[in-house]
Amino acid sequence: MGNVLLLNGPNLNRLGKREPDIYGDTTLEDIEQRVRQQLAASSWGMDSKQSNHEGDLIDWIHQAEDSYDGIIFNPGAYTHTSIAIRDAISSVTVPVIEVHISNVHQRESFRHVSMLAPVCAGQIVGLGVKGYELAASYFIS
Ligand code: DQA
Repeated sequence: MGNVLLLNGPNLNRLGKREPDIYGDTTLEDIEQRVRQQLAASSWGMDSKQSNHEGDLIDWIHQAEDSYDGIIFNPGAYTHTSIAIRDAISSVTVPVIEVHISNVHQRESFRHVSMLAPVCAGQIVGLGVKGYELAASYFIS
């Protein structure tokens, strides 16, 4: 059927250990496995990538144009700062769903603004790691 790229930005490799009161104790590997299984049940494929470097994320978004039908993307703190990632998303036609584990609107004011949301297909915020599965449901439904 289709193919999804599950993309995670800076510090998300630390899930499971990082601020568990905010992000819970699920690891990124667990999330990747869950979403991969969910998509596979509908005969969709998934690749996953994580980087702490802005340029890697930009390169992968560009490359996704020819290989994927959708991107599930937690951009971490780059959400709030990166015009370069916003421009990368604008430069491709593949739809991107922005996911945040925590409810950024209940946190510091610098987290209330997303540079990326206006150029994403949608945004899922504050529903914990289930947000990744909800984003996957959007693509397979
Ligand atoms: C996050 C929220 C961001 O503000 C933060 O910088 C992250 C994680 C989330 O998933 O809740 O790294 O994207």
